[in-house]
Amino acid sequence: MSKDFPGGLDPVELVRDRADILEIIGESVVLKRSGRNYTGLCPFHGEKTPSFNVNPEKRIFRCFGCGEGGDVFAFVMKQQNLGFRDALKVLAERYGIAVAESDPMADERKLLRHANELAAAFYRRTLAEDPAGEDARAYLAQRGVNAELQERFGLGYAPREWDALHRHLTHQGVSAKVQEDAGLVRARREGNGFYDYFRGRVIFPITGDLGQVIAFGARAIHPGDEPKYLNSPDTPLYHKGRHLYALPIAKEGIKRKDRALLMEGYMDVIAAHRAGFTEAVGVLGTALTPPQAKSLLRYSKRVVVSYDADKAGQAATDRGIATLEEVAGSAMLDVRVLRIPQGKDPDEFLRSHGAEAFEELVEGATTLIQYQLDRAIEGAEGSLDTPEGKEAAVQACKKILGRVSSAVLRDEFYAQLAKRLDVSRDALSLEIGKEFRHNRAPRRSTGTPLAKRNGFRQAEADLLTLMVEHNTVRQDVSEHLAGIPFTDEDCQWLRETIEAWPADKELSWEALLTEYTGEQEQGFISRLAFGADSEKWHDVEQAATSIIHTIAISFWTQEHDTCKELLEAAIRESAPPDEINEVLRQYKHALTRKEDLKSRSGSVLPTHKMG
Ligand code: UTP
Ligand code: MN
Repeated sequence: MSKDFPGGLDPVELVRDRADILEIIGESVVLKRSGRNYTGLCPFHGEKTPSFNVNPEKRIFRCFGCGEGGDVFAFVMKQQNLGFRDALKVLAERYGIAVAESDPMADERKLLRHANELAAAFYRRTLAEDPAGEDARAYLAQRGVNAELQERFGLGYAPREWDALHRHLTHQGVSAKVQEDAGLVRARREGNGFYDYFRGRVIFPITGDLGQVIAFGARAIHPGDEPKYLNSPDTPLYHKGRHLYALPIAKEGIKRKDRALLMEGYMDVIAAHRAGFTEAVGVLGTALTPPQAKSLLRYSKRVVVSYDADKAGQAATDRGIATLEEVAGSAMLDVRVLRIPQGKDPDEFLRSHGAEAFEELVEGATTLIQYQLDRAIEGAEGSLDTPEGKEAAVQACKKILGRVSSAVLRDEFYAQLAKRLDVSRDALSLEIGKEFRHNRAPRRSTGTPLAKRNGFRQAEADLLTLMVEHNTVRQDVSEHLAGIPFTDEDCQWLRETIEAWPADKELSWEALLTEYTGEQEQGFISRLAFGADSEKWHDVEQAATSIIHTIAISFWTQEHDTCKELLEAAIRESAPPDEINEVLRQYKHALTRKEDLKSRSGSVLPTHKMG
């Protein structure tokens, strides 16, 4: 598209260049000057005191109340609920910049979206009023899903015929190719023609973040129909594992209660909403994935995993734990696990025990480690009154606590287990410390205390700012922090991005915002750009050296501490000599690096904050 423009300029760049962010935002927000920024009341959330900021120099905005932020495109997208392409059109038109008419990818998606909307309406109508929908109406009535709930969740019914939807969509002018690409029909194996993907099933529309239908889940209701649930295949609009069932419907509830209930099944989610738990969303038959965890995080940091009490549910909880811990690591998710007694799922439990009993379960939900320990102890063979039973229980807990890298936390669990199993704390710490040492991956420590991590984050954010604004700092970081990752996941992401930035391309906050248009990325980059105040450092080189130094010392200090703990445990437990030697080698290495760095210090600037 750039070939139409003098000098090969892309309309995106032209628009960014010409659009005046103050003028655009100023049309809907009353802005007052405050230093370099302009502030006003945020148009994206209700507030009485202004926390919405615009920085005309960097051409970005950010609200410190709700976290929205980004460039002029992000503002128009958010304000008018548009995709990037449409926001570009709006702005281009306003500033008299031509934009090539269409983008084939965007057109394809538009057609698929349209086909999905038509299909959803067809299914809804069949359920609501068609004689063919009689079985489905009876089924849903028997499961307590009344007309109001059917409407709220957009439920429908796919008739049993081979091609009812196919004929309908064809009649509406949707091509067979689009129907097929949307996952709604399939080509017949022999001869020609198409048949419907969903037949004789209750339909649960799966929606994107804005509530648009992107796929379907479908439950069999006739005896002998398999599988019980069938989901749309992956399409250009829908990828398994990216979306959460009912998130647009649950958003408000999640924000209001500041917690999300994560469930396995469509019917569980609907039953929860019926009982007033409007903060419930579904994972759609998989363990929670990082994109799903991230989209929840936008509304609340508290997630209560409420999977089925059956084996599959427990397995999904276990698998989800890894993901949650990963995402939680930097984002401070508070994850709890709810346990439903007696082999039930949330739907069944709510039906037999009611909302109050379920609320009690939610409030009694435990941390992940506690959940795993409880299960391990219950599952251990033998009675806890016998030495063999105790040993079995300790062995079961060993693997779990062996992954907990915080010594303080481990200690707390030793105390709890000592009481519960009636064994000595020393025996536990001996037995489990061995496991911990065994598990620890060399040179990488986790479990940084919170305060320290925030301190790191500030240092890392400062350094990133300097990296964006100064080429030389980029080289310094690559050279002196090689092999020392940033502790904050977002900071590490941006660092890798910057380090991989092409040498012939100018790096700036604007360039980064142009390159990364995703909501998360825009938010993170603009937050940093706003925090950036490079003038607080009068000598950039010296400031960078000092921060690099601080980060390196922190890293080696922590390595040293961890190695020390390992070494003590190894000696206490008379580990084999080569194991002790290896730990000793790592210990010495970390100590040398730390001491070496310390001896070269003396350049810590007073302006540099450490959390
Ligand atoms: P369950 O088998 O626990 O069903 O599957 P359920 O949610 O309790 O459904 P009802 O109450 O019998 O109607 C849990 C989830 O796993 C996925 C679906 O998302 C389902 O909601 N699943 C299950 C499938 O994708 N395919 C299947 O065949 C079964
Ligand atoms: Mn169920």
